[in-house]
Amino acid sequence: AHRTLGTLAAAGLLVIAAGAGADDLQQRAAKQFKPIPQYPPVIDGNEMTDDKITLGKMLFFEPRLSASHLISCNTCHNVGMGGHDYLPVAIGHGWQKGPRNSPTVYNAVFNAAQFWDGRAADLAEQAKGPVQAGVEMSSTPQRVEDTLSSMPEYVERFRRAFPGEENPVSFDHMATAIEAFEATLITPDAPFDRYLRGDTGALDDQEQRGLALFMDKGCVSCHSGINLGGQNYYPFGLVARPDGKILPSGDKGRFAVTETESDEYVFRAAPLRNIALTAPYFHSGAVWDLEEAVAVMGTAQLGAELGEEEVTDITAFLHTLTGDVPSITYPELPPSTDATPRPDP
Ligand code: HEM
Ligand code: HEM
Repeated sequence: AHRTLGTLAAAGLLVIAAGAGADDLQQRAAKQFKPIPQYPPVIDGNEMTDDKITLGKMLFFEPRLSASHLISCNTCHNVGMGGHDYLPVAIGHGWQKGPRNSPTVYNAVFNAAQFWDGRAADLAEQAKGPVQAGVEMSSTPQRVEDTLSSMPEYVERFRRAFPGEENPVSFDHMATAIEAFEATLITPDAPFDRYLRGDTGALDDQEQRGLALFMDKGCVSCHSGINLGGQNYYPFGLVARPDGKILPSGDKGRFAVTETESDEYVFRAAPLRNIALTAPYFHSGAVWDLEEAVAVMGTAQLGAELGEEEVTDITAFLHTLTGDVPSITYPELPPSTDATPRPDP
């Protein structure tokens, strides 16, 4: 009888310890990460009105922003497909391959800076890049303004989105409207968000082990905050440089932005929200398998060979970062007119 009582007591203690452990993990996590909010954030200097968001959505889906009239933002950032293209590197104007993988537009509004190397400060600055890039949409600000001014519905919509402005249809306003729409592309309510808000049952045992490893092994030192990344820059290959397929020698990352030697092969710690939906991985798009990407991070960034189970557990945790994508109705775009510049494929 004595033994039985002892065993029961020990079992009881174990249960209490496991319970306390889970709460402790939740509390540690809540200090490092933040849930995705239910509503779009406020952007300084870009008042969010329904008219502006609706216009921004049309522009996001507008292929006539490209010289060929074939490529829209949604071509490479398909909002029905995790906000990206499932290609190793982007394919743009004239079927040209770009140098880098397309990141998702979902939750991009929470990144401190845009692009793999952080070279654009915000989404409005960012949006002007691809429209003009030769390998992306290959257009010009003048051509964009001529195109949008040629369609009376756009002129009217720009007037309503930018009331009181002398020159409502402009390249800058295009970017501001797209930014307003992009701010709505957030994915709340992932299992991990529910966990962070205190629902410890939202993550199963394996996912909790993965979360503990993610913090204990040091992933969290680069991937933290609301997007688990997107805030700071680190050498890719901090401890050991990955092979030339994963880290091609021609792309030196932030070095191209700052021209400082210590920034060679420095990249933004990638945001990990919805990471299960955004293969292939890394700026090179060289790795299709998320477990392999996790293992690469172990050797390259931590100098630690992660065990097979550790990799599986961390990957299970990363799957809990998949949130609810907003339901987006494909917009109807106004017809071209005689004044619309003709496609230039
Ligand atoms: C990066 C939006 C058009 C390919 C980005 C980012 C955003 C964005 C927000 C940064 C995301 C992040 O850093 O986490 C847009 C918008 C577009 C547009 C609003 C339309 C005006 C395109 C097109 C392509 C493309 C047409 C493909 C041909 C890429 C690539 C990057 C990128 C490869 C990463 C570039 C780098 O880091 O150097 N885009 N995009 N985008 N986008 Fe787009
Ligand atoms: C990229 C996970 C540790 C910095 C990534 C990616 C994943 C990941 C899945 C690919 C994201 C994508 O392609 O969209 C992890 C895990 C870690 C870890 C599970 C711990 C085992 C770290 C540490 C650092 C870091 C400690 C900083 C020293 C970066 C950077 C990138 C990245 C700079 C972008 C690489 C590129 O340019 O392609 N991480 N990471 N990571 N991580 Fe980590």
